[in-house]
Amino acid sequence: MAAVAHGIRTLGVLGAGQMGLGIAYVSALRAKVPVQLHDRSSEQIKKGLAFMDKLLEKDVAKGKITSEEAKEARDRLSVVSPEQGLAGIRDVDMIVEAVSENLSLKEAIFRDLAANLSPSTILASNTSSISITKIAAATVPQGFAASSAEGQRSAGRVVGLHFFNPVPVMKLVELISGLQTTTETFERAKSFAIACGKEPTSSKDVPGFVSNALLIPFINEAIMCLERGVATREDIDKTLKLGMNHPMGPLQLADFIGLDTCLAIQQTLYSGTGDSKYRPSILLERMVDAQWLGKKSGKGFYDYN
Ligand code: 3HC
Repeated sequence: MAAVAHGIRTLGVLGAGQMGLGIAYVSALRAKVPVQLHDRSSEQIKKGLAFMDKLLEKDVAKGKITSEEAKEARDRLSVVSPEQGLAGIRDVDMIVEAVSENLSLKEAIFRDLAANLSPSTILASNTSSISITKIAAATVPQGFAASSAEGQRSAGRVVGLHFFNPVPVMKLVELISGLQTTTETFERAKSFAIACGKEPTSSKDVPGFVSNALLIPFINEAIMCLERGVATREDIDKTLKLGMNHPMGPLQLADFIGLDTCLAIQQTLYSGTGDSKYRPSILLERMVDAQWLGKKSGKGFYDYN
């Protein structure tokens, strides 16, 4: 199939956390599209924008971009405040949702987006493990059957667009079609990922897709090793870093991703397959209970304060 033009002239990004901000960054700088960034927390928006300024300054200082390019990228970013809510996002050709891994939250957001945005707007989710088919089903307008033309049109524009952290650095974007996703939606989203400087892959809509069905059980096993006292946290990480050339050990990587995210994905794998090999580590559960969420909370397997 010949490459399909993405036709994305304006983008919405939901969530100004580490993923959402990274997506806004590569979209504004590399794909050069105006981005409307929304988060329900003004504190998070402030933190995100400050981080974006820091990244742009660093790229200018390293000679990767000119100060003019940095300014243009920054000017492409506008904020939709918590007060304006989702309804403040207008006239976008695509929206990428990057909020926390919670099915009912995502379903509610996609229901709202589908009701408020033009039927031609692509609705993409950066979910790391939740079914795109389920999220798409939430967009079917009330009073219409999923099999009706309206139902299929609405759900057909939902796609998984899974970026990796840190988004400005990691080259991969994993694309996921739900059962309802149209070929046009998929191809346009893929072409947009390429415009952001990414290499696309495609995965079926299975729990965790390819990436997290492999990565998160590996992290969970490392936590179980620590739980059983097989080795210290330092030696577990050192084994993978120096023995297998991983850039980070699995416990360090878990802290970097966020322990709540790791647990949510592992739970999705466990409940979505019913396979006991995916049982989450009890230590991981307890750490999330304690709100020791890794780097973002200042404490995880390591201390960051
Ligand atoms: N945001 C943006 N850029 C960042 C960053 C961040 N949070 N952290 C580091 N970088 C940039 C640095 O600025 C630097 O850029 P430069 O080359 O232009 O100066 C570059 O990354 C390298 O950084 P450092 O020299 O400071 O540090 P390292 O060489 O140790 O690299 C790392 C840091 C890139 C994070 C590296 O350790 C790494 O690749 N770790 C593994 C990351 C990984 O596996 N990510 C996937 C997580 S799974 C996921 O996201 C899926 C989800 O669904 C769970």
